[in-house]
Amino acid sequence: MRPARLFHMKALVLTSPSGPAALAIQDVPEPPLNPGQILVRVAAAGLNFADVMSTTGGYPGTPPPPLVVGREFSGIEEGTGRRVMGYAQWGAFAEEIAAHSNLLWPVPEHWTDEQAAAFPVNYFTAYLSYWQAGITDLMWGQPPPAVQRSEAPQSADTRRVLIHAAAGGVGTAAVQIGRLLGVEMYGTSSSDEKLARVKELGLQHGINYKQRDYEEAVKDLTQGEGVDAVFEMLGGEHTAKSLRCLRDFGRVIQYGTATGKPPQLDVRAMYAKSAGVQGLWLTYLSQKREIMEPAWTQVSAWIAQRKLAPVIGQVLPLESAREGYKLLQEGKNYGKVVLKVG
Ligand SMILES: NC(=O)c1ccc[n+]([C@@H]2O[C@H](COP(=O)([O-])OP(=O)(O)OC[C@H]3O[C@@H](n4cnc5c(N)ncnc54)[C@H](OP(=O)(O)O)[C@@H]3O)[C@@H](O)[C@H]2O)c1
Repeated sequence: MRPARLFHMKALVLTSPSGPAALAIQDVPEPPLNPGQILVRVAAAGLNFADVMSTTGGYPGTPPPPLVVGREFSGIEEGTGRRVMGYAQWGAFAEEIAAHSNLLWPVPEHWTDEQAAAFPVNYFTAYLSYWQAGITDLMWGQPPPAVQRSEAPQSADTRRVLIHAAAGGVGTAAVQIGRLLGVEMYGTSSSDEKLARVKELGLQHGINYKQRDYEEAVKDLTQGEGVDAVFEMLGGEHTAKSLRCLRDFGRVIQYGTATGKPPQLDVRAMYAKSAGVQGLWLTYLSQKREIMEPAWTQVSAWIAQRKLAPVIGQVLPLESAREGYKLLQEGKNYGKVVLKVG
């Protein structure tokens, strides 16, 4: 079914770079279509920590306000009537978005609009973190030996990963994928309640960092050895601390700075264990077809086998979006916050 064209649409607009209080629902013109773009009638949209950062001008590449915000969505593609889920840099918290066709994926039949809206950022970021950590063998069209390893997760070559914010959007996706890859996972959160819920997804070792220093906890839980990878999205001193959690040849995958502080890193600290720090930015990787296509092939196979499904903590109407921003800002979300748009 072809969605009706709207000449004006409802959208969440950032009116000034002064935080979530500057977000307002406005009536705006529908987006112009550039070459390579397709109009999508948005049904639901996923809220990301990057959206919170964008409200103060803290996210690289975001144009100045006024700006229709939001970076992932699900909806109906104009022309084909196909249910799609998509990734963008802005423009998703609106009734329509001019979406890049290479960043649209078909919604799995058994998923709701809300689940689809919670997919792109979390699952691609989590999967590509494992890839950059050298834990998925799958890339560039290769068969997935990593999946076969999941049949024997307790084998001697079991990899260990420390996942910060394990109860968050990317964190819950990383736990689900880690389980499929047969990884031994150590996850941090500020709350025992959130950790109990993530354990149901497959997290083996929960660390409440309000009660216990995670560096010490990892040392104890791994008999002093450390982990093969840390998924690090905090920045500041946590980059250096995460590096100290590694074992030989380990890798910190740095993909965020939720503390708002630049990562502290003394490159010399990497010498002793031949360790590394690797940056990951989905904005950049999403432009690389040779990376995104094999990632989608693997992740969509797991989805079809009903082994992956987005974890949604809260669904809010677009009009209550500011509440969602607050949840993320205050670390009170569990999994994904989804906004209902259509
Ligand atoms: N590089 C990329 O391409 C990329 C892509 C997606 C996301 N990211 C980054 O990954 C991180 C997670 O993103 P997300 O959207 O999935 O958010 P999220 O994890 O759902 O929410 C943030 C969580 O981080 C934890 N946290 C720890 N310290 C915090 C602090 N100082 N302020 C706020 N939260 C804090 C909180 O959980 P606890 O209270 O349980 O600790 C909070 O719930 C963010 O840093 C984001 O920028 C990067």
